[in-house]
Amino acid sequence: MLKLKLSSAKSCCGTLILVNQQHPLPDNAGQLHLDKCAEKLVQVMPKLPQVQMQRIAACELMRLLNHLHAEQQIQPLSGFRSHQEQQELYASALAEHGEDFTKKYVALPGCSEHETGLAIDMALILPQIDPLTPAFPYEGICQQFREAAANYGFIERYPEGKENITGIGHEPWHFRYVGSPHAALINEQGLVLEEYMELLHLATSGGKIFSLPLPGKKVQISYIPATDNETIIQLRGNTPYSISGDNMGGFIITEWEG
Ligand code: DAL
Ligand code: ZN
Repeated sequence: MLKLKLSSAKSCCGTLILVNQQHPLPDNAGQLHLDKCAEKLVQVMPKLPQVQMQRIAACELMRLLNHLHAEQQIQPLSGFRSHQEQQELYASALAEHGEDFTKKYVALPGCSEHETGLAIDMALILPQIDPLTPAFPYEGICQQFREAAANYGFIERYPEGKENITGIGHEPWHFRYVGSPHAALINEQGLVLEEYMELLHLATSGGKIFSLPLPGKKVQISYIPATDNETIIQLRGNTPYSISGDNMGGFIITEWEG
């Protein structure tokens, strides 16, 4: 048994945080959020220095793009946005496209995954790329990207048919890094992040563990609610593990079996 003490304030940090209108980032969104979580931004590609993500997400996206040899066909368009950039984007979308469009396609400032550095908008390279609703169709290289994404920890975050759960319109271009094995599990079960977090909370409430056989490996996932200042986490052994906050007042622990 390995015992860890985590600062409960860190339950808004990590690759599994749920960020939406019901679960905004704490006041310190954007750069302050990254500072609080001790996360750094890096550029995804040298030729697009303005497109930045959290280090782990940028590494995995770069590996995915290298695997597809797709540099001439698709590109990352928008990664991290500061809180102010999200505010400006929301205001300009409202002025240019009106309220219905804006509510559908732009998250309220403080409620955008782009402020975490874990989200990326992808675009098919065309003579004209729409910055808010870029083309990223379900065919060709875009579909190859989509199908390989989970192997690199990414999910398509706002699928068609789940708009009433995510609160956001269908966005074929917006991908979110959640890491492994969560991206594969979310995909296999056809869930959105909101549903996956609910499943984990229910499946692991009262200290139960959600045990999932993956090809060749076994992984156990559990949820621990944060307590006052410090949260004590007991790991089962000395095997590989990761811990992420959920931005809902708790932590998700992922433990691999040897
Ligand atoms: N387009 C997504 C919802 C955002 O603004 O974060
Ligand atoms: Zn996006």
